[in-house]
Amino acid sequence: MSTFDLKTAATTIRDRAYAPYSNFKVGAAIRGESGAVYPGVNVENAAYPEGTCAEAGAIAAMIAGGDTRLTEVYVIADCPAPVPPCGGCRQKLAEFGAPDTPVILATLAGEELRTTLGDLLPGAFTPAHMDKD
Ligand code: THU
Repeated sequence: MSTFDLKTAATTIRDRAYAPYSNFKVGAAIRGESGAVYPGVNVENAAYPEGTCAEAGAIAAMIAGGDTRLTEVYVIADCPAPVPPCGGCRQKLAEFGAPDTPVILATLAGEELRTTLGDLLPGAFTPAHMDKD
């Protein structure tokens, strides 16, 4: 399966972002292990810290949809350079993927940066770090 459907899903859904405070709409799409594509947008709030990122929305959709592992991520925004996920989203994505899971960051103008979860968050905290023996 190509990245095309992820790009289409993230780009289409981005318009529905609720971002009246930053005016910065972000669209994300995640492919679950089943092959299904899950979109998400940022949802802001008048109480600013309560806002959520597009990646978090896509993760919630994935879990609600029955997938618990992700195989590819696409994130797009109207910005001068491919939009980098925030630190919290890097950790959230790492929970469900692998260090070599591809992540494509994009601009509306068509620029893309291909990276991986491992490159975005080296040394991620994982369940293995809670092993006591
Ligand atoms: N935002 C995302 O949704 N994903 C990112 O990868 C970067 C930032 C959102 C959060 C907030 O609603 C707005 O962009 C400005 O920070």
